[in-house]
Formats: sequence, structure tokens, C-alpha cells
Amino acid sequence: MASEFSATTTIRDLKQHIGQTVTLGAWLTDKSGKGKIQFLKLRDGTGFVQGTVFKGDVTEEVFEAAKRLTQEQAAWITGEVRADERAPGGVELSVREVMPIGENHGEYPITPKEHGIEFLMDNRHLWLRHRRPWAVLRVRDCVQRAITTFFHGEGFVRFDAPFFTPNAAEDTTELFEIDLFGEDKAYLSQTGQLHAEAGAMAFGKVYTFGPTFRAEKSKTRRHLLEFWMIEPEVAPSNHEQNMALQERMISFIVRQVLAECAAELELLGRDVSRLQGAAEGNYPRVTYTEALEIIRTRIEAGDLPDNVQADVQPVEWGDDLGAPHETIVGSAFDRPVMIEKYPATIKAFYMQPDPEDPRLALCDDMIAPDGYGEIIGGSQRIHDYDLLKSRIEAQGLPLEAFEWYLDLRRVGSVPHAGYGMGLERVIAWITGIDHIREAIPFPRMLTRMRP
Ligand code: 4AD
Repeated sequence: MASEFSATTTIRDLKQHIGQTVTLGAWLTDKSGKGKIQFLKLRDGTGFVQGTVFKGDVTEEVFEAAKRLTQEQAAWITGEVRADERAPGGVELSVREVMPIGENHGEYPITPKEHGIEFLMDNRHLWLRHRRPWAVLRVRDCVQRAITTFFHGEGFVRFDAPFFTPNAAEDTTELFEIDLFGEDKAYLSQTGQLHAEAGAMAFGKVYTFGPTFRAEKSKTRRHLLEFWMIEPEVAPSNHEQNMALQERMISFIVRQVLAECAAELELLGRDVSRLQGAAEGNYPRVTYTEALEIIRTRIEAGDLPDNVQADVQPVEWGDDLGAPHETIVGSAFDRPVMIEKYPATIKAFYMQPDPEDPRLALCDDMIAPDGYGEIIGGSQRIHDYDLLKSRIEAQGLPLEAFEWYLDLRRVGSVPHAGYGMGLERVIAWITGIDHIREAIPFPRMLTRMRP
């Protein structure tokens, strides 16, 4: 019976067992061979390996059991680990025993042929078992751990912001409204920042790490309705220190992924030389005004990245950058670039004005290279009570909902700063996938709520 068996190792660790006989708890992903030989493609969650069953090496019963295995059926597989340079992972298994664990009921829909992305996403609950999602989501796990390690190392306290919030903080059109039994309105949080600011005044350095909701109507490859954001907030701090922190964090994350996930990146075909600059640091900084100049000269010279359409228009001073503009600026550098000091009119109400030119906000967006766009948005916050109050009023936001936020400026206020990093955008860029929907286990988009 299956209960007599248990795995003695995992596929990830097989290299340490060359020449030994091991047992894996594995699923069959595919099978080939004929006559006296069968090739079993196996996975166990930690990796993928091929098992070879030779008729001469095993009993008739074992050979038949291997032949009867169907795609995605689970089994205890015992075999000898052999080094094989041609095999992915450098090892193969010479199978000796096959003991099915369960039965399969019905056909497995994701056959080994090519499938379209919509079909695969409809079957996301099963597709997760396949190589590509497996590799991307292992990188996600690595990025999440790297973030926690980084902030812990810098003395930050993890500070969880609520998911139901009483007020907007970014664009009010992006809010998901919640019916609170006909009483007051509440919204799903589009940022934890305002609550993180309260945390920074209490703990000095905090970061939030949680899901964020935005009712974005845009169907782009960079937008989810539900995504994960990391929002550090530091008090006292300023715009310069805020940008330095962003650079330290992103370069740390990239170094961790390169060190821990080489196999996953290789499986995804990621050109890791494209991540080298990001791992090193020294990110370039350009002002919004300088960015407009880069965009204008590149358009005039017809020097545009492949993924930008030839009819792209330059940006007028005062207008926001679109995705193609970010791609143009991002493509001018071999590592992420920080665009700072945007016009205050196109940014959020809470941003501190630049003392040298109050038309500008002390803010920055970090743009990933290769067309992955904005991965971070951050700023120094207004610390002056009167200025903040007048900004809230000027935006037509309800003052009552912000009284608690104004309290942070009534007592013990200091200049402070923070930013938000979109987890899935960073994962999409690091793994080199085309669309952000693959960077989260179950994406939520305008066109997708299932499974
Ligand atoms: O630039 P945003 O809107 O900044 C804020 O929300 C600030 N309150 C953050 C702060 O200062 N604490 O969003 C931050 C990041 C973006 O740079 C992007 O990476 C990601 O969140 N993001 C999204 N990711 C996926 N889908 C969406 N719809 C996203 N909207 C923003």
C-alpha cells in the first residue's frame, strides 16, 4: 500500500543523492517510449525530472504499473539517481518501483500540446502545476522573502494597514465602494500609505505588505484590480533618502532572485544579463522635465524601442507620462531609472512641494527597463498642517474623513517620506513575462474573476 512509502528526498535535492536509491512522491506530467523502455516525466513541486523504466530492470508488475500511469496521476516512485549532463537539472532516475497513490477521474484538460493563454487561465487552478507558472510563482515567493529580509535588516517594523478604508488617497475614480449596511461608506483600500504614515510617527520606520484594490477600467498588461503593494514609510525622512531606500531595496531583491532562482529564470528563458545593472545599484535619476526632453529627442530621431508605436506623441509640460513614454525613458538606461519632481497638478494631494520650484512635487516614479514601466511611486509628504488641509479642500475631498490624518500634522509632525512598490510589476519585470496576470496565483482583472 502507498502508506508503506514516503518520500526520502525531493527532486530539487536529487543531485546530492547520485548513486543512491531514493523515493519521490511525484506526479506524472508526460510519458513517452515504447517496447522495453518508458520515459516518465515527473514533478514533485520542488522541480522536474525524468524517470526511465527499463523492462529488464523491474518486475513485469512494476513495468505495467508505470505504463498505466496517466497524466497528473500521483505515485511513489523509487529509483536510482544517475548523473546525466544532458538532462535538465543534471540528473535522471532509473526507476525500480512504481506505486500509484490515487486514481485519476477523467481526462486532464491541459494536454502536452500548445494552448492559448485564455484556455490556460480558465484552467489556472491546474495550470499552476506546469513549469512556467511554477517558475514565476517561485520567483514571487523569493521576492516576497527578500522584501521581508531587506526591511528587517534595515530596522523596519511590519505594519498592517486596513483593507476597508474611510477615504480615497489616490485617484477617487479607482475606488471599489463597499455597502456598509446602508450606513457610512467604506472603500477597499487602494493604498495603505495614509495609515502607514500614522505607523511611521509611532515606530519611525514601517512597511505595509498586502493586497490593494483599484477599480481600473484599463485593460493593459500592467494593471490588475487586485495587486500586492509594499509601502514603506519613514519619519523623519526626505525625498533624497526616500529614493536611496528604493534603490537599495530593488537592488537587494534582484540580487536575491539571481542568487536563489537561477534555475527558475533559466526555465523562463530570462536573459539575466539584463538584470545585472539593477543588481548593482547606481540607478540614474532624471527630472520630469529632463524626461520630456529624452522623449522628445528620441521621437524626433525615430530612435524608439520595438514595443513603442511610431506615431507616439511627445508630452507637453504638465501632462502625465503614458506607458509608451515610460518605455522610451526606461529604454535609455540599462537599469531602473527614477523620474523625479513631476508637476504637482498631476500628482496626489499629499506630496510636499519642491522648495526650489513649488510647481513641482518632491516625488519620483521608478521605471523598470525593457518596457516594464513604473514599478514604484513615492514622495515626501506634506508635514505642514495648514498646507495639507488646504490641499484636501482644494481637491474637493471630504475633510471629516481626513481629520485623523490631519491629527498626524497637528501633533509631532515631521518631514517624512515613503513609496509603494507594485509586487506583480516587479515580478513581471524580473521574470521577463509579457503580462502581469501571470505574476499572481489567481489574477483579478476586468476580464477575469475565475477560477
Ligand atoms: O504610484 P501609486 O499609485 O502610489 C501609491 O499608491 C502611493 N500611495 C504609494 C506610496 O507612496 N505609499 O502605486 C504604487 C505602485 C505603482 O508604481 C505600481 O507598481 C503599482 O503600485 N500599481 C499597480 N500594480 C498592478 N496593478 C495596478 N492596477 C496598479 N496600480 C499601481
